[in-house]
Amino acid sequence: MESRASRPATAGSGKAPVPPSTCGRAILKCTCLAPYSRGILVPVSKPQKSSSNHASTPRIAIAIMAAGKGTRLKSKHPKVLHEVGGKPLLAHVIAAATKVVPAKDMYAIIGHEADRVRKAVAHTGIGFVLQEEQRGTGHALMVAREALAPYDQVIVLSGDAPLITPQTIQKLRDFHLAQRSAMTLLTAQLENPTGYGRVIRKRADRDSVQAIVEQKSLLPGQKKIREINAGFYAFATKPFFRHIDKLSTDNPHHEYYLTDMAALLGRAKERVVALQTGDPYEVLGGNTRAELVDIDQRIRLAKCQQLMAEGVTIFYPQTCVIDSDVSIGADTVIEPFVQILGKTRVGGDCRIRSYSVILNSEIGDEVVIRPGCVLDEARVRAGALLGPYSHLRPGTEIGEGAHVGNFVETKKVRLGKGSKANHLTYLGDAEIGERVNVGAGTITCNYDGVNKHTTIIEDGAFLGSDATLVAPVRIGKGAYVGAGSCVTDDVPADSLALGRARKIVKEGWAKEKREAHKAK
Ligand code: UD1
Ligand code: MG
Repeated sequence: MESRASRPATAGSGKAPVPPSTCGRAILKCTCLAPYSRGILVPVSKPQKSSSNHASTPRIAIAIMAAGKGTRLKSKHPKVLHEVGGKPLLAHVIAAATKVVPAKDMYAIIGHEADRVRKAVAHTGIGFVLQEEQRGTGHALMVAREALAPYDQVIVLSGDAPLITPQTIQKLRDFHLAQRSAMTLLTAQLENPTGYGRVIRKRADRDSVQAIVEQKSLLPGQKKIREINAGFYAFATKPFFRHIDKLSTDNPHHEYYLTDMAALLGRAKERVVALQTGDPYEVLGGNTRAELVDIDQRIRLAKCQQLMAEGVTIFYPQTCVIDSDVSIGADTVIEPFVQILGKTRVGGDCRIRSYSVILNSEIGDEVVIRPGCVLDEARVRAGALLGPYSHLRPGTEIGEGAHVGNFVETKKVRLGKGSKANHLTYLGDAEIGERVNVGAGTITCNYDGVNKHTTIIEDGAFLGSDATLVAPVRIGKGAYVGAGSCVTDDVPADSLALGRARKIVKEGWAKEKREAHKAK
């Protein structure tokens, strides 16, 4: 069977045929002929027909609404790609949802800047539905009918609310199934409910919901209701799709509101209930810049707390920026104002001092990173000592116990075990062995204006200060290069290379010059 992960790319290019046995009929047709024209972007595996034990194993899909523009962010970038905790909003929602249903049963409804959104999360293996025109949250689900109708139940999540947890999605699912309701919505009590849809519960039956009223349509008496609609729902697909076409755009935004399904299903005598979450923060949406920053801070503080619980000391965690996917070993100490980003892995017993920024790097145990270092896709082995102010660029590998010091820049370099490059140096495209001393001011001249060339420095070599190594060049094992030398040819092992102008001395010259000036 075709791997799910490859689907977004193949569907976009329209190249790979999809085995008919794995596709829903209309979906297969749509995808292979015109992937972008009709709503369904990506082939979806038809959910397995449920057997006799239907009630115990309902077929459940998750749909994530992610097509909106995000007008309130005043951005040219799609809303769900705005980042919190170092990842797009949508990536957080997908990460939580994949713990509840497999990626093959998950669909993101995309529209505004659909291609960019699809590319950003295609690796997750989820399916996509295109909502070409964004006419409201209700419309988003109308467009997804073909993908979702084959399932028994659908859980609907908002792509702009990244704090949702798998546990809460599971609770929503279980409550919905236990209640046998047509619609279950997640609600929360907020101190300040402004901007959210409010939940009107039935007087006689407090579990049941009569309607959801959006902010702009609130009657004066409804404004004080603090129970808000979180934007997460579970629906039984049959009644849902039977009634969805009755939604209207008769509201201040002239959109199809998914929230109107509560009153609509209620009028059709279907059961609509609400589950209130105990943690109101989980449902916060990132609709404005201020809300995004607030969510980002919550995610990062939670990350710091998780790391501290695992044995990492983080001084002043409010000042540190640590992305969600970072891992750090026990007994490592992080000083204030440190950023550790992307997929960086830091070992145990390290010390990362202030103002260092580390992206997608791998740091071994007992590494000390002094203040102000910048690491980007670098590997640093155990016991190494970096900084202050070292710049390790992509492809850098620092060996065990090696030292890289002040104002040293490295790129595509292997610095062997115990080697030292302590001051003011550029090392690019170089293979440097063990126990090598790279003197202050050493430069590898790796670029001839067209191509990059390699410098090889073998074990135990000693480069005096200010050596200039014009690549391609090899410094043999145990060789010495005199300070200030410009080396253009290979240096044999155990030899001394000197490539500098011979010094001349004119005795008394300075004194004579001074006296001549005085006489004028
Ligand atoms: C929505 C709810 C509101 C609830 C709030 C919770 C409606 C009408 N209102 O309001 O009751 O309190 O969420 O956060 O649903 N989207 C689409 N296609 C569209 C429009 C939106 O996919 O045509 C997506 C957006 O990208 C977003 C999500 O749906 O991820 C919610 O839309 P948004 O505009 O943020 O709705 P809210 O105003 O927050
Ligand atoms: Mg929203």
